[in-house]
Amino acid sequence: MRTIRDLPALRARVHDWKEAGESVGLVPTMGALHAGHLALVQAARAACDRVIVTLFVNPRQFDRPEDLARYPRTEEGDATLLQPHGVDVLFAPDAATVYPPGFATSVSVAGLPDVLCGAHRPGHFDGVATVVTKLLLMTGATSAFFGEKDWQQLQVIRRLVADLNIPVRITGCPTVRERDGLALSSRNQRLGPPERLAAPALHREMATAAGAIARGAGVGDSLAAARSRLITAGFSQVEYLELRAGDTLALLEAPAAGARLFAAAWIGGVRLIDNIAV
Ligand code: PAF
Repeated sequence: MRTIRDLPALRARVHDWKEAGESVGLVPTMGALHAGHLALVQAARAACDRVIVTLFVNPRQFDRPEDLARYPRTEEGDATLLQPHGVDVLFAPDAATVYPPGFATSVSVAGLPDVLCGAHRPGHFDGVATVVTKLLLMTGATSAFFGEKDWQQLQVIRRLVADLNIPVRITGCPTVRERDGLALSSRNQRLGPPERLAAPALHREMATAAGAIARGAGVGDSLAAARSRLITAGFSQVEYLELRAGDTLALLEAPAAGARLFAAAWIGGVRLIDNIAV
């Protein structure tokens, strides 16, 4: 695996691969890698001739400066973790390579970001859409792999790729979970021991509510019960817990094909998100 930081070197390498007729898989990350990222790398490895992992902590997608400041930066450990997984290039540009002086363009998808995380994190999805567009164009990837844990992000990316005619295939990969159900996230490292013990309640209560709804229980009652059980379990706030269509993210009052439960909740000062099919 070669680490590349500048665009001309990345372009030259990808040019050679494409000349040889090879497909290029992209796994965009902000580092602090865990088994969820490695599952994306494995999916890219299985589907593509070449694999690029990008590591860039994108300042434009942080709505709170303190979140950006304390985001873990662990490039050396990340590179070591990737080493045995058949990655060809780790592209780790600095901020001036991605956003050179005078940078004045933003990619903004309308509609999808108005709900769920987007409603609580102003500007977040513009930051994601802008950097993902840049990473797709910089790498020239033929396929790109994203985790379904960030379901709303995945829909925003599918939309922008279709709207901007970017020639890349987007693949969503299933959420990777701890044995107790907690979805893997770099934020989990910030949970203290008691919060880590309580955190799986998020997935557990979502699964209970999803099961009840699928069996015909009322959506409002099932979600209200889940909210109250989450607070009892130790969560300080349930930011949202909603049944929505998986593709349009439209709010649903009854289960329908493709419906999903989406949640964001705070525990020990850490915001956790999850989503599951109903
Ligand atoms: O999901 C993430 O880690 C980030 O939002 C992404 C897609 C790498 C863009 O910075």
